[in-house]
Amino acid sequence: MGCEVKGLEGVIAGDTAISTVGKKDMGLTYRGYSVEDLSEHASFEEVAYLLIHDKLPNHRELEEYRTALVNMRGVPDRLKVVLESLPPASHPMDVLRTGCSALGAIEPETAEREQDQYRVADRLLASFPYMLLYWYRFHQSGARISHESGQREMAGHILALLNGMPPEAIVRKAINASLVLYAEHEFNASTFSARVTASTLSDFHSAVTAAIGTLSGPLHGGANEQAMKMITPLRSPDEAEKEILRMLAAKKKVMGFGHRVYKKQPDPRSSIMKEWARRLSAEAGDMGLFLIFERIEEVMFREKKLFANVDFYGALTYHLCGIPTELFTPVFALARVSGWAAHIIEQRADNKLIRPSAEYIGPEARAYVPLDERP
Ligand code: ACO
Repeated sequence: MGCEVKGLEGVIAGDTAISTVGKKDMGLTYRGYSVEDLSEHASFEEVAYLLIHDKLPNHRELEEYRTALVNMRGVPDRLKVVLESLPPASHPMDVLRTGCSALGAIEPETAEREQDQYRVADRLLASFPYMLLYWYRFHQSGARISHESGQREMAGHILALLNGMPPEAIVRKAINASLVLYAEHEFNASTFSARVTASTLSDFHSAVTAAIGTLSGPLHGGANEQAMKMITPLRSPDEAEKEILRMLAAKKKVMGFGHRVYKKQPDPRSSIMKEWARRLSAEAGDMGLFLIFERIEEVMFREKKLFANVDFYGALTYHLCGIPTELFTPVFALARVSGWAAHIIEQRADNKLIRPSAEYIGPEARAYVPLDERP
């Protein structure tokens, strides 16, 4: 027998007022606003404010919020020591997970959680890019970069920390759109793990640390990195088609395709990322990789009726923006921390311990066999 619902598929595990995913007549919305509108018109900070502080900010609120975030971008020296001591070969997701946990030990959430949780949420959002890229640049070249990037917006800040120079406008806009699209997605695995941790009344940093670990897996956020690694060696659309057919015949999964919720309808984030990938390719005067990606999308739909998810063209967009492949999933995390934060706050506001039950499928009750009598 066993449990009939594997992986909690289709199970409604709680209430949320933060986002709708695949909902009839609404699609993907953050607090009622469509991601199509938000990714086209809003900066990531506006969206983070919307998710965490529950309303779209006006001009003054947005500027005050940006200033607050800019002032929270640095990390303590003790944390720099931790980051410098991590191996250069560490995966950057492990670095972010460790950095978040270390920050929680250095600057713990206070007992006044109702107020302090907003400070912690903003602090994590503001400091994550520097935490990640301090470690990255230090191990790349020995440079101890400053958190003062000269960029007020998150997308520009990330790119300036990575490259040591201000970004081109089109690249900044593409990254901003990706951050908006990656910010939130209801009860996905990493958000759910954050809520499970929060439901035990554990602290904010522990919930986000758990979420980072969960996001890193290739069935979730890690898919963008894996998709790029799989596609990089392919030289032409025909070669890509052959490789995908070979993978499908071998019953292998093609990363960047399929989704627990978007089975009969496409992931609305995918077409937006695809348009950014097309624009960036055209701007660079090289459609080569784009055509390879597009052929893979065609083959996956023809053979398996599977749609590309956000990570497929998200990977190509990041590649074209000059983000190193191993940083794809961490950049996703820099955005998703806003959604995790909103869910931790929501979980705490009406908390009940999340503790489901299991269908037992092990042996019948039996007598204990003393150690000396075992075969
Ligand atoms: N490549 C090939 N076949 C696939 C893929 C894929 N990417 N995704 C699903 N399938 C097939 C499965 O093999 C299965 O076939 P079967 O019924 O013949 O066994 C069927 O489609 C159903 O797939 P499940 O894995 O059971 O569906 P589930 O809802 O559990 O999984 C998931 C969703 C994990 C996202 C899956 O589609 C997958 O592994 N995709 C690749 C990883 C990926 O891109 N993850 C990112 C998701 S988006 C995000 O997290 C931000």
